[in-house]
Amino acid sequence: MILNIAVLPGDGIGPEVTSQAIKVLKAIALEFDHTFFFKEAAVGAVAIDNENNPLPDETLKLCKSSDAILFGAIGHPKYDNDPSAKIRPEQGLLKLRQELNLFANVRPVKAYDTLLDKSPLKKHIIEGTDISIYRELTGGIYFGKKHLSEDGNTASDLCEYSRFEIERIAHLAFKAAQSRNKKITLVDKANVLETSRLWRRVVTELATQYPDVTLDFLFVDNAAMQIILNPKQFDVILTENLFGDVISDEASVIGGSIGLLASASFGDRYALFEPIHGSYPQATGKGIANPIASILSAAMLLEHFELFDEAQLVREGVERSLELNITTQDLNPENTTITTTNIGDFVDDFISNPNDSNINFTNIHLGQSTII
Ligand code: IPM
Ligand code: MG
Repeated sequence: MILNIAVLPGDGIGPEVTSQAIKVLKAIALEFDHTFFFKEAAVGAVAIDNENNPLPDETLKLCKSSDAILFGAIGHPKYDNDPSAKIRPEQGLLKLRQELNLFANVRPVKAYDTLLDKSPLKKHIIEGTDISIYRELTGGIYFGKKHLSEDGNTASDLCEYSRFEIERIAHLAFKAAQSRNKKITLVDKANVLETSRLWRRVVTELATQYPDVTLDFLFVDNAAMQIILNPKQFDVILTENLFGDVISDEASVIGGSIGLLASASFGDRYALFEPIHGSYPQATGKGIANPIASILSAAMLLEHFELFDEAQLVREGVERSLELNITTQDLNPENTTITTTNIGDFVDDFISNPNDSNINFTNIHLGQSTII
């Protein structure tokens, strides 16, 4: 298969984790005889620095002419600490989601058996967790009209949803549930918000088309508690933009590190793959960032193109690295020798030689790269 992949490394640790994902995709291309072309473009704070625009036109153009987009991370402390900044890195990502109409964001949350001790949650609570979060990504309060009064003392953000916006992601969530454990939980705040009541009505109506799927509802405050109290009760979680943002970060605690959580965003035409973690500026350039979320986002990219064996091999490589404790400091605070690059190298080697990765493990622990 020939794929043109737009690479938007972005800010902070974005470039270092994305290059591990590219390394892994190149190994897959070699092993399975595919041709993947990678073209890089600027986004976020880097693009503001150079072009005063967090999403330059040529970046958008590249994305629109590519088969898929691999995204790194976005954000910089100089903007986080300056609420009055008019141009912000996050605007680049939001505009990209909007321009490409990426309305469905899929965030899988899984408890890996080998990492059960790494989560601050008790092992028996998280063991076996396998959730797929469907977060609406181009509507709601993120994109509603914003207002700041002239005196700067009153502000508002409008949260608006239409039936159409709810239906299109709900269909995807129901289809996903059909191929999983056949359960959807709609997370909302229907006891207070009109938009949530619309979500309930529309999703309930739609559920009649999917009689094999059980639909239930949770208020978001309760859902926030249930996710860490009893995560195994969930299969597919369907929710609006802001709630999805919050509960997916929360759910990452189950896996032991936010550095493990990948995501895919789909629209009617385009698809973008990105780790859910942010730009982690404190770690930039130190080689301590966990590249697994980015590597697993690459696996989701492969699955999107129905390259299932390829994706499976990437996942096995990741699982093997976790089994062998080839992990960054977020999962293994004692480790000061295994770097972001080492993990990419390990998965790369695993792909070309799945049965022989113990040798690489030894080399990595000796601080020797196995890549010549
Ligand atoms: C995410 C991020 C983004 C969001 C930010 C960077 C705009 O937190 O993808 O979860 O809020 O959607
Ligand atoms: Mg977020």
